[in-house]
Amino acid sequence: MISTELRAGGVSYPVVIGRGLLATVGDRIKERLAPARCATISDTNVGPRFAVQLQNSLRAAGFEPTLITVRAGEHSKTLEQAGAICEQMLEAGLDRQSFVIGLGGGVIGDLSGFVAAIFERGIPHAQIPTTLLAMVDSSIGGKTGVNTRAGKNLIGAIHHPSLVIDDIDVLKTLPRRFLRQGFAEIIKHAVIADAKMFRELKNETASDALSLQTLVQRNVEIKSNIVAKDELDRTGERALLNFGHTIGHGIERAGNYETFLHGEAVGLGIIAAGAISIKKAGLSIAEVKAIVDLLQRFGLPTKLPDDFPRERILDALKFDKKFEAGKIRFVVTPKIGSANLSHDVTMEDIRGAVERL
Ligand SMILES: NC(=O)c1ccc[n+]([C@@H]2O[C@H](COP(=O)([O-])OP(=O)(O)OC[C@H]3O[C@@H](n4cnc5c(N)ncnc54)[C@H](O)[C@@H]3O)[C@@H](O)[C@H]2O)c1
Ligand SMILES: [Zn+2]
Repeated sequence: MISTELRAGGVSYPVVIGRGLLATVGDRIKERLAPARCATISDTNVGPRFAVQLQNSLRAAGFEPTLITVRAGEHSKTLEQAGAICEQMLEAGLDRQSFVIGLGGGVIGDLSGFVAAIFERGIPHAQIPTTLLAMVDSSIGGKTGVNTRAGKNLIGAIHHPSLVIDDIDVLKTLPRRFLRQGFAEIIKHAVIADAKMFRELKNETASDALSLQTLVQRNVEIKSNIVAKDELDRTGERALLNFGHTIGHGIERAGNYETFLHGEAVGLGIIAAGAISIKKAGLSIAEVKAIVDLLQRFGLPTKLPDDFPRERILDALKFDKKFEAGKIRFVVTPKIGSANLSHDVTMEDIRGAVERL
């Protein structure tokens, strides 16, 4: 078991990473939060698998947990759902002394974190991510929120958790396609910040020395280091985490959020950002090829289907939050292991890269 202390926004909280941790959650939370009522928020895939063990551990530690289960999937990440959960929490007698636990993937992490941010003007939140993507990405950094008809994540709050528990064992039941999309964010981290991890991912097979546990820890550190430097997205440092995401979001949207999972679209966005980086940042062709090979190795798509509506990707870009007043803030990589923001990337560069995808 590894415990990493994460610092952000004047707060500090542990990220505990290991196996068999679900049964110990009650005791771990007790070290951080006073015995009280709490709500465990989960979804219809994760709840039936893991909630009983979690609730028992909470009860044994003196907590009074209520389980709230929402339908699995992105469609549950709405203001209406957050409101309905708050009503259920009030009915169950939760108050300002209570806290929220999110047990699930990024959808549950964002939704439960948002509920914790607004319930009684803010109560503590514990994250128990159950997807690889949520462990290495969404459970870290304090961004919480819900989707609206106009776009994803447009309503939300920064609300850091009091504790994050990554039980690697829960990944055993995660469908392979969801496991793979977590690797897209890991490869993103490698490209923007960790050339050594990039080489290791190339050389090891997933079950080798670079165990999932070590990998999760490395990625938690990469993301938290970047977030710590620029918590509020002001200096451009945090924006580096958007590498591959500008075009990735466009691809997700153009496919009506059905053709590709987020991580799959990001993988394709990384390839397009790599091609743009050749032109605008001096990245070598060999390095772009290495990135494509690595994505392929982890079972991620590296080409758009021939009949994919490419023009809709560009249409979708104008909804992107990174397009400030018509100016493109685009993340490029001059060399694997580093990244910077560029203001020289034009819509034509993006069009060219998308056409070649
Ligand atoms: N807050 C942030 O900084 C941040 C960063 C990245 C992504 N996100 C958000 O994260 C969400 C995507 O997260 P996700 O990919 O984890 O999606 P998800 O939460 O929908 O989980 C994917 C699927 O796997 C199922 N599942 C989860 N854990 C399981 C397990 N252990 N065994 C079996 N099935 C399991 C879920 O029920 C769901 O069907 C998006 O809403 C995205 O906006 C947020
Ligand atoms: Zn992402």
